[in-house]
Amino acid sequence: MVNFFHWFRSASPGTGAAAGGGRPSAVAAVVPIRSLGTAHRARILEHLLALDDRDRYLRFGYVATDEQVQRYVDRLNFERDELFGVFNRKLHLIAMAHLAFSVDPEFNSCAEFGVSVSKAARGRGFGGRLFERAVLHARNEGVLMLFIHALSENTAMLHIAAKAGALIERDGSESEAHLRLLPADFDSRVAELVDHHVALTDYHLKAQARQFWGLLSRLQDRRQTTSGEV
Ligand SMILES: CC(C)(COP(=O)(O)OP(=O)(O)OC[C@H]1O[C@@H](n2cnc3c(N)ncnc32)[C@H](O)[C@@H]1OP(=O)(O)O)[C@@H](O)C(=O)NCCC(=O)NCCS
Repeated sequence: MVNFFHWFRSASPGTGAAAGGGRPSAVAAVVPIRSLGTAHRARILEHLLALDDRDRYLRFGYVATDEQVQRYVDRLNFERDELFGVFNRKLHLIAMAHLAFSVDPEFNSCAEFGVSVSKAARGRGFGGRLFERAVLHARNEGVLMLFIHALSENTAMLHIAAKAGALIERDGSESEAHLRLLPADFDSRVAELVDHHVALTDYHLKAQARQFWGLLSRLQDRRQTTSGEV
């Protein structure tokens, strides 16, 4: 399955940044990215609250207070929008993206992308991969234009957008980037299906490993208690 996935990513030009017309991604490793749902609301909140003031400023365009972050999370609409996450072995949400579809029917071929990666997990390709994943999903949902609002000082985010072929317009401290997407095709649909299954399998394996470690440590505790009684 994973081999097929590797093959597919490198063979298909429509699966990554090239979907927007840029050059194909050089990311070689598989980053399992799964869709998030209401059940993940608490983890999303935990992830966002852990961002410091500077990161909240870069993510939201202002230094969001804890209450504002809470309100943002409470209002997430998992039916309309798509949220993606990367989990570590302990199932902590270390990176997430929000693909927000236009609420205005006049602009129903437009969507906006927002992302955050935990400080300790930066520079490992998660931000870029989340962007590629969002592009893929957006294409398959009929989105033709993806918007990214970033501060001009946000070189990492602007780099990700520019690399995918986005047009960037700077206006003082703020920048608007938009990426024209190719229409969905067979490759983009299969690539998303594969991504989805790889991520689910990865998540369930991590969950099982955690449960098994829990079982082992309970057994260990019991053994210690029993040997103490002897
Ligand atoms: C922006 C952010 C998501 C990037 O996440 P990341 O996982 O560190 O990014 P990646 O590792 O995928 O790097 C993507 C690319 O940006 C480049 N990059 C990373 N940091 C950079 C920086 N400070 N300046 C310039 N380029 C940078 C990487 O080299 C990589 O380029 P490559 O693919 O050509 O090698 C992360 O810094 C973050 O969460 N910032 C706070 C919130 C935010 O700014 N969100 C964006 C606004 S919505």
